Amino acid sequence: MIEVKNLVRTFNSGDRTIKPVNDVSFELEQGTLASIVGKSGSGKSTLLSLLGALDKPTSGDVAVNGVSLASMPDAKLTQYRRRDIGFVFQQFNLIPNLSAVDNVMLPMEFAGMRKAARLQRAKELLEQVQLVPEKHDRRINRLSGGEQQRVAIARALANEPKLILADEPTGNLDEQTGDHIIELLSALCRDHNTTILVVTHDRALANKTDRRFRLQQGRLTEEPVRNRATAAAAPV
Ligand SMILES: Nc1ncnc2c1ncn2[C@@H]1O[C@H](COP(=O)(O)OP(=O)(O)O)[C@@H](O)[C@H]1O
Ligand SMILES: [Mg+2]
Repeated sequence: MIEVKNLVRTFNSGDRTIKPVNDVSFELEQGTLASIVGKSGSGKSTLLSLLGALDKPTSGDVAVNGVSLASMPDAKLTQYRRRDIGFVFQQFNLIPNLSAVDNVMLPMEFAGMRKAARLQRAKELLEQVQLVPEKHDRRINRLSGGEQQRVAIARALANEPKLILADEPTGNLDEQTGDHIIELLSALCRDHNTTILVVTHDRALANKTDRRFRLQQGRLTEEPVRNRATAAAAPV
């Protein structure tokens, strides 16, 4: 369960103050797949950074399973970022000259897992995201965009995070690959009770989520979506 309360983030640019996150409040039940849509510059990435403790709010707070981020000392925040959250960004944030499997093993190394266990789990995760085994040892910069995004998702899953924050995960991908990434995120929510918050420009993706939010000049509103269960049950 995530509770976001009156979150504000301001930036000073020159003699101007901008407020890309302006009094944002919402709650997400565990296991929800939610999307945030909004124009470029509307504050989506800023909001995700606050939820992922990559940045600190000007005011307001985020509570994860009842624990407030504002009250956490920096060491705890680092732990929260590494253990409780999986990040999937458009730019992949992978290490380009390491292999796919080494990239996926990295968060598990931070978490103190032994090497043999890390290797086994990394290979399982790469299979789960359907990266063919012969590409597991290939360097990231020799994989396609879709393959890199699969590796990024596998890496985000490494420590079984309760929350996945995805910033335009299908942005660089062709439609078919994007669809596959959506299916993958959706299955994760279902099978692992993972909460996923995904920022997207992709209408198809936004329509497949349980809840959809819109950010407009720092203000968040919720929009109705067709419930996934209802959509699946509806006759074609
Ligand atoms: N670190 C920063 N310092 C100053 N301004 C920033 C910073 N990060 C984001 N901004 C500004 O905040 C606004 C929202 O940015 P962002 O959250 O990246 O929007 P989005 O992800 O919706 O495109 C933009 O005007 C951007 O220039
Ligand atoms: Mg952004």
